[in-house]
Amino acid sequence: MATSALLTIMVGAARKGARSLKRDFGEVENLQVSRKGPADFVSAADKRAEKVIFDELHKARPTYSFLMEESGAVEGTDGQHRWIIDPLDGTTNFLHSIPMFAISIGLERNGVMIGGVIYNPITDELFTAERGAGAYVNNRRLRIANRNHLSECVVATGIKNTGNAAADTRAVTQIAKINQSVAGVRRSGSAALDLAYVAAGRYDLYWEDGLQPWDIAAGMLMIREAGGLITDSKGKEINVARGSVLAGNEKVHAKLLKELKNA
Ligand code: IPD
Ligand code: CA
Ligand code: CA
Repeated sequence: MATSALLTIMVGAARKGARSLKRDFGEVENLQVSRKGPADFVSAADKRAEKVIFDELHKARPTYSFLMEESGAVEGTDGQHRWIIDPLDGTTNFLHSIPMFAISIGLERNGVMIGGVIYNPITDELFTAERGAGAYVNNRRLRIANRNHLSECVVATGIKNTGNAAADTRAVTQIAKINQSVAGVRRSGSAALDLAYVAAGRYDLYWEDGLQPWDIAAGMLMIREAGGLITDSKGKEINVARGSVLAGNEKVHAKLLKELKNA
């Protein structure tokens, strides 16, 4: 696997941010039993990791722009490149000592995703993708699963905590309908890992709405570079700013799209 200078920078930043997250994850396990719980600590851990990642990327490419979950947008002077960063995707898992979370870093050039890194510090799985150069997990090439029939597919999704009973009922009803056509539905709590797992052929499909650019940026490139199709959940062209996703191989993507329209 040939690695460009830019991907090397992204991997370096993700690994450094991961050291900070991993230390804090150890502490969260201790705080679990305290009366106040680890919530404030986790929000500080999030910001700490983002600062580490920002410092690394900014040092390497001082003119690039940033879009970060915690600190928002930082405009660079080069006018072409933008890093899109979620320092901790899967916050609720992290808060509950569930080792299913990741750092996600995407790189855009003139509005097109050209690089992506998704790293789970606990499993030490490093997912990477570069435009035109494929997607990898720890140097092994990623390929989307090749199943044909929805009934054989494991499908990941997300369930929003809206606090709105009608929205919850709609979401659960939709999932219940999809559940009847597939082998199983999963909800991991990390959109970035959901996309990486589809790219890796572990999940066959993934759909979710109401996401943010930093949840999707790196993963959308990974899906494409692994040979998959990613659109919004209505089958239209994906736009990171709109936060709606449907990903999988072309055949089952079309089948799930049809089911979602009827659900
Ligand atoms: C969340 C996760 C989750 C998805 C939520 C996201 P966070 O990101 O990706 O899987 O369902 O919509 O907000 O808050 O853990 O960074
Ligand atoms: Ca996120
Ligand atoms: Ca986050």
